[in-house]
Amino acid sequence: MAAMSAISIDITTKTYPAQPGSPAREVFRGFRLDVARGAFLALLGPSGLGKTTLLNIVAGLDADYRGSVRFDPPQPRIAYAFQNPRLLPWRSVLDNVALVLPAGASGRAAAQHMLEEVEIGELAGAFPERLSLGQQRRVALARAFALEPDILLMDEPFTSLDEATARRLRDLLRRLLARRPATVMFVTHDSREAAELASRVIRLEGAPVRIASDEPGSPLSSSPPQAQA
Ligand SMILES: Nc1ncnc2c1ncn2[C@@H]1O[C@H](COP(=O)(O)OP(=O)(O)OP(=O)(O)O)[C@@H](O)[C@H]1O
Ligand SMILES: [Mg+2]
Repeated sequence: MAAMSAISIDITTKTYPAQPGSPAREVFRGFRLDVARGAFLALLGPSGLGKTTLLNIVAGLDADYRGSVRFDPPQPRIAYAFQNPRLLPWRSVLDNVALVLPAGASGRAAAQHMLEEVEIGELAGAFPERLSLGQQRRVALARAFALEPDILLMDEPFTSLDEATARRLRDLLRRLLARRPATVMFVTHDSREAAELASRVIRLEGAPVRIASDEPGSPLSSSPPQAQA
């Protein structure tokens, strides 16, 4: 038997119940997807399809479905960069990252180190409201990698940035992954971004969702650039 996938998704059904003015909506039925360890999987698909729903299910944030999500190893550390960075406005940048680490000096030192890795060490004491969106996205990356995740879920982490900023963040993500490999599920609307980053690109369509295409990404991602000296 082949080695088990890092993530094995089998959603028998996922339905959002009817609400006033909107009927019940079955987002997934008989949806299966296996993700190999160390893969960088990009998920493409139109707005409102169910991509965030899928990440929420994999993250364990949404247990209201029938089916299973299995992991190998069974209890992975999962980091989730949400569609909005979701920084706590009343906490400093450093505290937003330290939040996911053990309390105390070593956690704060690790948080500071991660902020330096994402090149915003000087913003540690700042509050999120004064950060640009690109800087907020860097904090979200720092918070995700501070966990040293086995599995990294990213929901359109580089959307709404100018192209130069998005490119810098993609390069940064590749460098971080080169140092700390993880199995990645990355949602994007941008097929160029998907091809550039991913080892595997899946296009989703329909309601309930099905896999429209499943193809290898570009060779760029199989040989990540080395960290700059
Ligand atoms: N909590 C909820 N209650 C009811 N319906 C919901 C809920 N969350 C999402 N939906 C519906 O389920 C469908 C899938 O939503 P989801 O957020 O997963 O889409 P998405 O693919 O991430 O879209 P986008 O690309 O715009 O972020 C949508 O039609 C949405 O309206
Ligand atoms: Mg979404």
